[in-house]
Amino acid sequence: MKKIVMDIDVIRKNAKRDIEAATSVKTCEDVRVQYLGRKDGELTAVLRALSSMSLEEKRRVGSEANALRVELEELIENKIKELSSKKIQRIDVTKPGKRVSLGHLHPLTRIDREVRDIFSSLNFSVVSGPELEDEYHNFDALNIPGDHPARDMWDTFWVKPRTDNGEEIKGAKKGGKLLMRTHTSPMQIRYMETHQAPFQIIVPGRTFRYEATDASHEINFYQVEGLMVGPNVTLANFKFIIESFFKRFFGENLEFRYRPSYFPFVEPGVELDVKLPGGKWLEVMGAGMVHRNVFNAVKYDKEMQGFAFGMGLDRLAMIKYGIPDIRLFYSGDVRFTKQF
Ligand code: PHE
Repeated sequence: MKKIVMDIDVIRKNAKRDIEAATSVKTCEDVRVQYLGRKDGELTAVLRALSSMSLEEKRRVGSEANALRVELEELIENKIKELSSKKIQRIDVTKPGKRVSLGHLHPLTRIDREVRDIFSSLNFSVVSGPELEDEYHNFDALNIPGDHPARDMWDTFWVKPRTDNGEEIKGAKKGGKLLMRTHTSPMQIRYMETHQAPFQIIVPGRTFRYEATDASHEINFYQVEGLMVGPNVTLANFKFIIESFFKRFFGENLEFRYRPSYFPFVEPGVELDVKLPGGKWLEVMGAGMVHRNVFNAVKYDKEMQGFAFGMGLDRLAMIKYGIPDIRLFYSGDVRFTKQF
């Protein structure tokens, strides 16, 4: 008697192990036949042997064997379900992959990088300055005093300093009132305040103007300032540098035209136009020899001289890529950005 009870324990252990190890519906069926098969099933044999047992043994062994039968049937069913649901989730290796969508550099970022690269190769250093400026660096030190009508050239966002509670901070500060820089030229002053000549730098950066927007005006845009100072720097150096730059930027077959112009911080002042093959004359930058008053503001020697220039990055991008409206750069529309 004891032997059969022992056998039930062994059968339970083995059957569970085999069900656990089954890897297909077919092996599950094999396991079912091996233990529960009508003819030669191992558990079936135990049940069959019941008839030769005493009533007491029949009860004990019979209920144990029947419980195991029910348990094994259930385990096998579950295993079959598990295996066939796995079949449905199987990975289809012939399916085409999911398309990976790549991000795009904004056209202004591309232009910015290109400008930095070209000027770096011409031995210019790239520096940057604050977007929130003071009146002194944006205007006064650049030979544009408060009562000067030239201030009208730059429509300005004035900024009222406030405490954390939102209360306005009154009283004159060093450097005067605060504003969003209207051009990158204040970095001419900041750089010369802290560095001695000779040097040559460019200052790419964001600038702000308080004006109505249209296809060629935005309240926020980008400029690149250039400044080269040394004892012998002349307009001829400017011509060489800037023509080298534009030929690299737009191509060798470029024509140049210099027109006299006025900016308070240069004398003489010029405006540069370029003409692409088959195109029209396009105004691309203001420039000139640094005004003596600017050098005086940073206490530079009388021997120092240099040239400065400023150009709009947005404008360069519009010309290069044929973009008709400056507002597209700031639209946040991916259908626009995706084209570059
Ligand atoms: N800062 C001028 C502007 O924004 C451009 C400029 C820079 C002109 C340097 C001359 C020299 O209009």
